[in-house]
Amino acid sequence: MVSQALDDLRAEHRWMTGLLDLLQGQIRLVAEDRQADGGLLLEIVEFFASFPDLFHHPKEDLILRRLVARSPAEASSLQQLEIEHEEGGREFKRFMRTAIRLVLDPEVDPDRFLSAALAFMESERRHMAWEEDNLFRTAEHFLLPEDWHDIDTQLKCFIEPLRKQEGRSRYKRISRSVGWWRAGSSAASALPHDEPT
Ligand SMILES: [Fe+2]
Ligand SMILES: [Fe+2]
Repeated sequence: MVSQALDDLRAEHRWMTGLLDLLQGQIRLVAEDRQADGGLLLEIVEFFASFPDLFHHPKEDLILRRLVARSPAEASSLQQLEIEHEEGGREFKRFMRTAIRLVLDPEVDPDRFLSAALAFMESERRHMAWEEDNLFRTAEHFLLPEDWHDIDTQLKCFIEPLRKQEGRSRYKRISRSVGWWRAGSSAASALPHDEPT
């Protein structure tokens, strides 16, 4: 383990990938003119509306800031992170609006939902792959043990109280739907709220 923060980020990417797989299943249902699971869709929306900005992006931003200070030349190509997060936020809001509309009235404009949900899903997958190939690897290569120690110490004070406030039970449908997915998957350990403290 280089850093708890980096381990957590990778685990969260696995977890979010699992949620995007669930979303993909719902997209498929709508594309086939079948009924989506509205409760599950709303939980996926709720998760992505809060978790990334509260728990995930702050860790990435902190790592990037440290990298800028430690190794500005290497960090210069990573400055698009902030723009990526903003663009991702816009894609998410479009998806959220169309998902809510679909749940309220499944007959009205499912194509808009399909286009927004696909765009969000693809942009999230691409963004996570970009971070793993660029931000995480560069940070692993150039940050020193004392950098990681400081990052982990800073985050501990920030993340733990938040984690206590978030109840895993808040995402009951996701937990249930993920059950089948977890059964044969090493990603079980990736659950951000797996063992709430
Ligand atoms: Fe990110
Ligand atoms: Fe990320």
